[in-house]
Amino acid sequence: MSMNEAIHKLMNHRSIRKFKQEPVTKEQLVTIIRAAQMASTSSNMQAYSVIQINDRDKRSRLAALAGNQAYVEECPVFLVWCADLYRLKTACGFAEGEGYIGTTENLVVAITDTALAAQNAVVAAESMGLGAVYIGGIRNQIKEVSALLKLPEYVIPVYGMCLGYPDQSPSIRPRLPYEAVLHEDVYSAENYENLIQAYDETMKQYMLDRTNGTKDTNWTQAMQVKLGTPSRLHMKEFISSQRFWDHDRKAPDSKA
Ligand SMILES: Cc1cc2nc3c(=O)[nH]c(=O)nc-3n(C[C@H](O)[C@H](O)[C@H](O)COP(=O)(O)O)c2cc1C
Repeated sequence: MSMNEAIHKLMNHRSIRKFKQEPVTKEQLVTIIRAAQMASTSSNMQAYSVIQINDRDKRSRLAALAGNQAYVEECPVFLVWCADLYRLKTACGFAEGEGYIGTTENLVVAITDTALAAQNAVVAAESMGLGAVYIGGIRNQIKEVSALLKLPEYVIPVYGMCLGYPDQSPSIRPRLPYEAVLHEDVYSAENYENLIQAYDETMKQYMLDRTNGTKDTNWTQAMQVKLGTPSRLHMKEFISSQRFWDHDRKAPDSKA
């Protein structure tokens, strides 16, 4: 594999869930956010916002709402990344009923923009020796989280992010063989069985090692549990209530 410093850093990524007390400076945080902002963004829309949570009460409330994830409360910096079309609505100055802000396409744009910026932030943080973990758990009780953060319409909290100096050194979590995700010319599921089987072996060993032999599950089994269990089925209604689908049916040629 051809290596350089950036690739080496990317290949060494691991989520960090235990942090030193040592603070992240304001200057570091601003650098991380500015690096995040330089991610590509659809039509330069920059359809995301980041909320830094400093207030201790809000932190402990968010930790509880995210399913009692203690590191949300304990980490030096906690950010909430939001898909945001509200700033665009404000900028465009559309009156109620005007424009095409709340569309499924713009939902895809806003969530993509949020993810690209957030991952730039993780890469920037890791380049400084910091560690990070995303917290999708904030979507467990998304209405309560949104109320706590006073999010306006056209804004959705997508995930939180803990940042700080690592106080643990977990092993790198193996990924699928690259052949399982890289297709040539057309989509091909031909080798999935073999590739998944090979990955199952790797993940089984990884889980045994990581849990001192207590967790004997492979990837397929983990995914069967994950996808066989209902999860956050409130998302559709919440996204709708934030008006992300208000304008899908408003095109002039639409019969709706
Ligand atoms: C969108 C997103 C949400 C996540 N939510 C959580 C979470 O709520 N709690 C947690 O401990 N890890 C969370 N993670 C971390 C993943 O579990 C982790 O990235 C994955 O298992 C791969 O491990 P690695 O990051 O150490 O390589 C999340 C990751 C992503 C990308």
